[in-house]
Amino acid sequence: MEIKLKKKDKYIVAVVGATGAVGNEMVATLEQKNFPVEKLRLFASERSVGKTLQFKDTDVAVETLDEGCFKGIDIALFSAGAERSKIWAPVAAKSGCVVVDNSSQWRMDPGVPLVVPEVNPDDLKWHKGIIANPNCSTIQMVIVLKPIHDAAKIKRVVVTTFQSVSGTGKKAMDELLQQTTDILNFRPVQKNVYPHQIAFNCLPHIDKFLENGYTKEEMKMVNETKKIMGDDSIGITATTVRVPVFRCHSESLNIETHKKITPNEVRAVLSSAKGIIIYDAPEKNIYPLAIDVADKDETYVGRVREDESIENGINMWIVADNLRKGAALNAVQIAEKLIEMVD
Ligand SMILES: NC(=O)c1ccc[n+]([C@@H]2O[C@H](COP(=O)([O-])OP(=O)(O)OC[C@H]3O[C@@H](n4cnc5c(N)ncnc54)[C@H](OP(=O)(O)O)[C@@H]3O)[C@@H](O)[C@H]2O)c1
Repeated sequence: MEIKLKKKDKYIVAVVGATGAVGNEMVATLEQKNFPVEKLRLFASERSVGKTLQFKDTDVAVETLDEGCFKGIDIALFSAGAERSKIWAPVAAKSGCVVVDNSSQWRMDPGVPLVVPEVNPDDLKWHKGIIANPNCSTIQMVIVLKPIHDAAKIKRVVVTTFQSVSGTGKKAMDELLQQTTDILNFRPVQKNVYPHQIAFNCLPHIDKFLENGYTKEEMKMVNETKKIMGDDSIGITATTVRVPVFRCHSESLNIETHKKITPNEVRAVLSSAKGIIIYDAPEKNIYPLAIDVADKDETYVGRVREDESIENGINMWIVADNLRKGAALNAVQIAEKLIEMVD
């Protein structure tokens, strides 16, 4: 079944997982970007029944999901975890609504486009009702890789991430706050979300371990990047680390290219690309920091320098807000692009 949005002035929009870290941000982003919303419907679990969330000065009640709940909805932004997406995204699509799904459930499905609007907007043309939003650490990386790939063809990328706890969701943010407070008050530390204390610590472990010794998060960065860039020849290896930061993922990128590209050329190429801000004046202590990039839409790039150990190599440090560009904003931008494409 071909599912297309119809041209309208305003759309009925749903956020599934509205009470979560990403869902909350989706509601805020729809409002901030003045998305053409005729009516907003909010869904979460039974636990949230009775709650309301504010959207443009109105209190919107949170509902639970059922077979008929998507009837009449034009666009549904999902961020309620892979299990819920597996069951409910097809139900929503069958009701004629276009789903933008934030979970990992559909990302590598060959029938589902995986889209970052700045990188592969044309992939939206072949969706069949579900569009996948990539992993947060992948989105900010591909935004930077694409213009460099176009200019100098990337051979290999070595990425190390420094990912905030909001990437795990609300409970993890509460855990970091609680552990930090407990430690500073000489109280014993409780661990519920992560296998180790996250406060004042770094965990080289995001998502579960796979047979090859990598984590699922690391392999998401490898596989999703190839799908979004449409190029399997790019070599990628990742180490993903959870750090005691509330918001924003930072990444160290080492990029080897086929063609020589200098740091100045990289800055020039990236500064004319969409969604990127070059923030790179180390002599004045200027480089991207998580605390400065929180709530920003763009991916910030700094510390651009040559990798002097190889012939064609570049190192850089990139930071983006994982809840915004890494999740909610990218989903809303996909919805905006879909509307633009309505004939
Ligand atoms: N955090 C990030 O940076 C990020 C980035 C990209 C993608 N994602 C993905 O986005 C999804 C949500 O992540 P999050 O960080 O926002 O998690 P979260 O803070 O734990 O929120 C989870 C949301 O899912 C809802 N939910 C749980 N069970 C449900 C059910 N049975 N029916 C309906 N809703 C249900 C929760 O509702 P209640 O409040 O009622 O429990 C809550 O609204 C995940 O798939 C995650 O992988 C997250």
